Amino acid sequence: MLRVLREVPRNAPLLDIGAGHGLFAVLARGRRVVAVEPDARKVRRLDGIEFVIGFDDVITGTFDAISIIDVLYKIPLDQWDALLMRCRSRLAANGILIIKEQDPTARFKNAWNAIQERGATALGLTLGESFTYEAPAEFLARLKRLGFENVQSKRIDFAYPHPHVMYTARKT
Ligand SMILES: C[S@@+](CC[C@H](N)C(=O)[O-])C[C@H]1O[C@@H](n2cnc3c(N)ncnc32)[C@H](O)[C@@H]1O
Repeated sequence: MLRVLREVPRNAPLLDIGAGHGLFAVLARGRRVVAVEPDARKVRRLDGIEFVIGFDDVITGTFDAISIIDVLYKIPLDQWDALLMRCRSRLAANGILIIKEQDPTARFKNAWNAIQERGATALGLTLGESFTYEAPAEFLARLKRLGFENVQSKRIDFAYPHPHVMYTARKT
């Protein structure tokens, strides 16, 4: 998460979608942070954070940065474009979208990730039935098709067993 946090511009108001227990929101504190999470079990009062129960569409206004960390894979693929377009409309000019996912093309690391995630879903720890990853080349093409600019991907999994990949994209 610290590797992802480096991409959030200093003082930029941040919207964190699918915030879970709010860990990234806590790390990003010190600027305006709005965290939104549909699983009410995870939402709690945290100083300096506007923590909201719901899906992203309950949030209004614009943000300089939006983060979506390990959330897309829980959402069916045919809903990704709509979510990403909502993000685009909620970004301020030159705002940055930061997405963290797993790279399914990393065969061995991804096999380990799949085992762990199936266990978490079976135990009901994470909301959502979907388990969808897209190869970085396809996901970058998706972001470009949706009108994002300066679209980039970066593996951030050095010394980790999971194939963490981060995407950044700008609204111009
Ligand atoms: C693996 S957790 C990641 C949580 C947090 N982002 C983190 O990195 O600690 C996935 C989160 O996505 C949330 N989620 C599931 N479906 C969602 C959706 N359609 N929109 C937003 N969040 C969703 C789940 O409730 C869960 O908290």
